[in-house]
Amino acid sequence: MNVLQMPADMQSHAEALRRKGRTIAFVPTMGFLHEGHLSLIREGRQRCDDVIVSIFINPTQFGPDEDLDNYPRNLQKDLTLCRELAVNTVFTPDNAALYGDHYQTCVTLEKLPNHLCGLSRPVHFRGVATIVTKLFNIVKPHIAVFGRKDFQQLAVIRQMTQDLNFNIQIVGSPTVREPDGLAMSSRNAYLKPEQRVSALCLFKSLQMAQEMVRQGEKDTRKILAAAKTLIDSHPETQIDYITICDPDTLEDISEISRPVLMALAVKVGRPRLIDNMILNS
Ligand code: PAJ
Repeated sequence: MNVLQMPADMQSHAEALRRKGRTIAFVPTMGFLHEGHLSLIREGRQRCDDVIVSIFINPTQFGPDEDLDNYPRNLQKDLTLCRELAVNTVFTPDNAALYGDHYQTCVTLEKLPNHLCGLSRPVHFRGVATIVTKLFNIVKPHIAVFGRKDFQQLAVIRQMTQDLNFNIQIVGSPTVREPDGLAMSSRNAYLKPEQRVSALCLFKSLQMAQEMVRQGEKDTRKILAAAKTLIDSHPETQIDYITICDPDTLEDISEISRPVLMALAVKVGRPRLIDNMILNS
């Protein structure tokens, strides 16, 4: 397995692979890999000759009061996991190599960030779109795999890829959950035992909403009110948002007449967790 740190080395390696006619699947991550990340790597492994994983905790997607400094990391374990999954190359750049002192270019989207997580994390999607653009230019993949767990991120990347004519196929991969339903996340590592119990309220509220829709409920206000009651009944929870919206535009919907996205963000103690589900009648 190659481990490359410098963008120029990664770029020439990717160019050499392309010249040899090899296809490249790319899985960008911030490390502290769990089964969710590994499922993306397996997806890439099935689709392409070479799998390239990046590990970089991108500072520009964290707001000033967010958990950048405490973001969990374990590079050695990540490299072992990548080796076990036959990843060909891991790209581990550092901040200086990617941004330097005089950095000044950003990628911003006009509409998609004005919903869901973008409302409480105003710089987040600009940071994500910018780093993913840079990584696309460095890794030169044919496909890139992202988790549907970060639904809005996936929507932003798809839109950006189309708008900026990246010749890259974006693949969305299903959310991997713990056996009890909690969506896997690097941030779950911060949960204290009693918070871990409360954290299940995100998935429970999505399941409850899906059941209400299956039984014919169309009024999103009623579903959202029931979800809020359920979440509020769990200790140490603080709702950031719960929304039922159009899966393409992320705009709120009041009456359900087609598949819709329900998405939510809840702080459980300090960690802020997100989850989502497409509700179908
Ligand atoms: P990170 O949070 O490390 O996630 C990397 C990828 O793993 C993302 O595509 C995310 O959606 C996916 N993922 C996380 N948990 C998952 C789960 N339980 N099931 C399936 N997929 C899951 O997302 C980022 O990093 C960054 O924003 C990044 C795209 C790397 C840009 O910095």
